[in-house]
Order: sequence, then structure tokens, then C-alpha cells
Amino acid sequence: MTIEFRNLNFAYDTEPILQQVNLTVATGELLALVGPSGSGKTTLLKMVNGLLTPTTGEVLINQQPLTSLDLLAHRRQTGYVLQQGALFPNLTVAENLAVLPKLNGWSPRQIKTTTAQWLQEVDLPTTILNRHPAELSGGQQQRIGIVRALMTQPPILLMDEPFSALDAITRQQLQTLTKQLQAKYAPTTIFVTHDMQEALTLADRVAVMQAGRIVQVATPAELQEHPVNDFVTQLIQGGTHA
Ligand SMILES: Nc1ncnc2c1ncn2[C@@H]1O[C@H](COP(=O)(O)OP(=O)(O)O)[C@@H](O)[C@H]1O
Ligand SMILES: [Mg+2]
Repeated sequence: MTIEFRNLNFAYDTEPILQQVNLTVATGELLALVGPSGSGKTTLLKMVNGLLTPTTGEVLINQQPLTSLDLLAHRRQTGYVLQQGALFPNLTVAENLAVLPKLNGWSPRQIKTTTAQWLQEVDLPTTILNRHPAELSGGQQQRIGIVRALMTQPPILLMDEPFSALDAITRQQLQTLTKQLQAKYAPTTIFVTHDMQEALTLADRVAVMQAGRIVQVATPAELQEHPVNDFVTQLIQGGTHA
């Protein structure tokens, strides 16, 4: 399933936030959207599941304008992983994981079996199922966040700075896990980060954003060999720019 932004512009009132964004993410590709805080990454991501609507231009899913699709059905086939704290705090892990499958009409038995399989996939014990999110470490919460997003095997996966709040080691473990699961299930993926090193580690291609514009789209190797300007060079050399 492809995701395409075509001549996309977005403004709050008259303040331009996204300008002339043109980008196609291929089926099964992992595209990292990297740029400093405030450059428009989250805003662009929200265009994909219709949480925000372009001022001009359009988003196409498999070459169909998003505006022509059933938005709720589209959202149900889009996995979304946010920063730590995005699980429902009042629900247990099992209940958190069951929300989407229930909407998709799965039987309780199917939910239970699939949940157990996925916990194994992300190296968590089933004893965790009856706990609430506050009773998990940050890394465990994000593992559950990933399971919640992938369990229904959506063709599209959106991740918005999912590991930014984690310590370096946990972060590296979850990057590896993400890479493995993304390769295995191959959802078309946009991974937002302000950390260029994370983008270079994970992505098939990297799109660099600066002040609402995409200034370069390239493979990690191309980007490192031929950065288009000083801004990109500095992001690469500086590593993290929060
Ligand atoms: N609801 C809003 N109203 C007005 N401006 C906003 C709103 N949300 C975000 N912005 C502005 O849009 C710009 C891009 O924000 P965002 O997409 O969240 O950046 P990023 O995710 O790259 O940090 C920022 O300048 C931010 O202040
Ligand atoms: Mg953001």
C-alpha cells in the first residue's frame, strides 16, 4: 500500500506549517521523517490518518485520494505508535491490546491466542497481561505499543518519536525489534524522529524536514555521501538535534 503526499500545503490560520510536500512511500518501505523540533513532522504524519487535512494538495493511499476513502476503515488499517504514555492508563495490558481486534470483530479466543503469540514476538511474559501501563517500564510500555499497532497486521504503520523518552540501551533494543518486525510484516511505514542517527539506522530512505519543507529524500548511504546542504550535514554530524 503506497502513501503519497502531492503538492501538499498546510497552514494554521495564515501561518504556513507545511510547504509543497511531494513524497511517495513505497509498499513495505520504512521511511524515516527526520528534522528538528517544530519542523512539521507530526503535522505531516497526522495527514496520513486524516487527523489533519491539507490546506491545499492531497494525500493518496494506493493512488486513491484520502478524501475519497472511508476514514474510519482507513484508520483501522493504520497502526499508530506514539511516545511513551499512549496506552490507555485505566485498562490492563490485555484490555489495551484487545481494543482494535474487537473493533475488527475478532472472537475472544482469537484475541487471546494472537496476543500470546505477539507477546512472545516482543519478548514479554504473559504475566504482564493483567498489569496496568503504569506498572510497566518505559521499554515494556513501548513494546506493548508496538504490539497494539501491529497485532491486526495493518498495511500502514505510523510511528511518532516512539523511543524518544527511553534510555539509550532500551532505545537501541527497540530499534532492532522495530527493524525486525517491520521487515517481517512489511507495513508501509513512516517513522518520525528528531534523531538523525536513529533515522539512518532504521530507514530504507530518509526524508529530511526543515521548517515545513522536505529538503532531501535519500537512502542512508546517499544522504551521508551527498548531503544537499549544510543543514543536512549538521544533522548528520551532530547526531541528535532535539
Ligand atoms: N494546533 C496548532 N496550532 C498552531 N500551530 C501549531 C499547532 N500544532 C503545531 N503547530 C506548529 O506547527 C509547527 C510544526 O509542529 P509539529 O508538526 O508538531 O513539529 P514536529 O513534530 O516536527 O516537532 C510548529 O511550529 C508548531 O508550533
Ligand atoms: Mg512531533
